[in-house]
Amino acid sequence: MVIVMGKQFRVFRVRPQTKQLSDVIPLPASVRPDPAANFTITPGTAVSAVPEAAAVAAFLDLPISADGAIRLRLDETLPAEGYRLEIAADSVTLTGGTPQGLFWGIQTLRQLGSDLPGGVIEDAPRYPYRGAMLDLARHFFTADEVKAHLDLLAQFKINHLHLHLTDDQGWRLEIPGWPRLTEVSGGAGTGVDGAGPGFLTLAEYASIVAYAAERFITIVPEIDMPGHVNAVHVAYPELTADGQPVAPRTDAEVGYSSLVAGLEETYAFVEDVIKTVADLTPGPYLHIGGDECLSTPPEDYRTFLARVLPLPGKYGKRAIGWHEIAATDLPESTVVQYWRFEGESPDVARAAAAGRQVIMAPADRTYLDMKYDADTRLGLDWAGHLSVERAYDWDPADRLPGVGEESLLGVEAPLWSETLRSVADVQYLTFPRLPAIAEVAWSPRGSRDWASFRSRLAAFGPRWDAAGITYHRSPEIDWL
Ligand code: ACM
Repeated sequence: MVIVMGKQFRVFRVRPQTKQLSDVIPLPASVRPDPAANFTITPGTAVSAVPEAAAVAAFLDLPISADGAIRLRLDETLPAEGYRLEIAADSVTLTGGTPQGLFWGIQTLRQLGSDLPGGVIEDAPRYPYRGAMLDLARHFFTADEVKAHLDLLAQFKINHLHLHLTDDQGWRLEIPGWPRLTEVSGGAGTGVDGAGPGFLTLAEYASIVAYAAERFITIVPEIDMPGHVNAVHVAYPELTADGQPVAPRTDAEVGYSSLVAGLEETYAFVEDVIKTVADLTPGPYLHIGGDECLSTPPEDYRTFLARVLPLPGKYGKRAIGWHEIAATDLPESTVVQYWRFEGESPDVARAAAAGRQVIMAPADRTYLDMKYDADTRLGLDWAGHLSVERAYDWDPADRLPGVGEESLLGVEAPLWSETLRSVADVQYLTFPRLPAIAEVAWSPRGSRDWASFRSRLAAFGPRWDAAGITYHRSPEIDWL
């Protein structure tokens, strides 16, 4: 169609008005449409579920009935996170490898809406770890705000939320026996530029973990050390090298604070914290940070990590650390999270060659706090601008020489909060780039295509508008 507008000629490609079975993000592994077999969900359409699927069925918001036309089933021969969705003229059958696979299938079904195109989707993720990160240290977000964010992440089959709970400015998790961590460093004015206060009580943290688990999302808590600890030293000056009081910091500098590797009290503190966090966290991971320790002498860094990296294992968890830890000897189960934005990383390649798993979170492709472009009001730009296309158009297995597909546990999209002040700010930087990274982490490598993605993404604009979700109306997308 050619539409004449004033003196300009603009050509609009007419979009197919009917929804396609593949109009899903992340793109499913296999889609076989059957145009003869569409199914319409009406308010009276009911769901029948095997008993193990009853809790998951509630996420469809439809009546439950033994002879419902939407059937939820389990088939343990499918991958655990996999599902098969069969849409016929008179029924919809959703079969999951586990209740988690069913839950992801329900996200697919919800994205397709009430007029379901017929056919069969068979789907399972590329990577077992598909993560997002939220920084509660530079700006605190309440338990209710984190839960609302979890609901949005689940729609894109994200299955891990990494919470960055501590940093130079603030400490955001109650630790019994160390009350000043939260009384002082979770108090008023402890966010960047004096924002705040806030911290999670043990009960609030547990409620986030439980809410996430109902959505098949694993919480990955991070206690950042030995750097990024000014908030610890403000609360407990006895943990500094000279025992002198330390001033709070609300600027966004990094690399100036460090736990003291030669002080025995350091390890009593660290073990208490790790034990508390491990006891509160049913998921398998505990992130110990390890990044940007610019004021820790390299020998002290090695000494510290040699004592601390085994501690998550002692309390039943697998340690994750930012990739700087790969310069040290890593216990076998340690996971390395790569975050740099340029160059090679011989240390990470060596760790991968020795069998350590890697989470890919390169800042120039996955850091949601990078500005979209020079005009973006929020965010930073030290790793460049991150357009939607840049967030989409890369492959985790090609990113680092020596770190191929077999070494990858998965992909994560971190969101640091130095410039964030509200949930709307979180959403603005998250959408629509998180869906792009979710597709990188879920969909088969060979199936990904920017033109297809941007056309599927366009349909989310009206949905986010209707749901009151803030997002960046990137000019890269022809929003519906
Ligand atoms: C980091 O961005 N310092 C992990």
